[in-house]
Amino acid sequence: MSKIIKRILLGLLAVFVVIQFFRIDKTNPPVVSEQEFMALAAAPADVSQLLKDACYDCHSHETKYPWYTNIAPVSWWIANHIEDGRKHLNFSVWGTYDQKKQAHKAEECYEEVKKQAMPLKSYLPAHPEARLSDEQRARLVEWFMALSEGKNLSESTRQGDAGAAPALNEAGGELGEQGEHEQQEKE
Ligand code: HEC
Repeated sequence: MSKIIKRILLGLLAVFVVIQFFRIDKTNPPVVSEQEFMALAAAPADVSQLLKDACYDCHSHETKYPWYTNIAPVSWWIANHIEDGRKHLNFSVWGTYDQKKQAHKAEECYEEVKKQAMPLKSYLPAHPEARLSDEQRARLVEWFMALSEGKNLSESTRQGDAGAAPALNEAGGELGEQGEHEQQEKE
């Protein structure tokens, strides 16, 4: 190996070592349960699971950081996705969105999932649990579509935590009906 190549490689190694000192901030902001999406939107268990597996790392304050998020420059690239993802859509602060924004975000969700733009392709190799089957995709599309059409999203916003699910149904509205619809489907 020529001297020059050796020097270049050593230089690159030095750069790699030095950039390791620039670590990303992995503190998740707190989750306020009254503002969290799952309860507010009365998401059924299967939908919650799919969202946690396929979306929450980039679109919530419940991000999980695997070992490779310690390694720059990959870590910077990932932190960027998380920051950008939360800016566009953050399930942890869903309750702070007004009714119109919630409906719009729900609509964007089914569009993105339908055209297979979300979850991001680059996320999938390291996250097999986020690879949606056709059925899972259809399920999310159908559910988000119903949510976006719900006239009662702000009603659900006031209802608070998961314990309030029956109250949600009592309050009537589309979300309650949707729950029933789902049971029928299971039968
Ligand atoms: C690896 C990180 C990552 C994952 C996982 C992920 N997203 Fe995203 N998402 C992003 C980023 C980054 C953006 C903003 C840039 C863009 O639109 O590509 C975004 C944007 C969005 C938007 C907004 C689009 C717009 O026009 O503003 C929606 C809606 C969305 N994602 C839904 C989802 C849903 C639903 C899932 C799960 C099925 C998901 N995302 C999974 C990173 C992610």
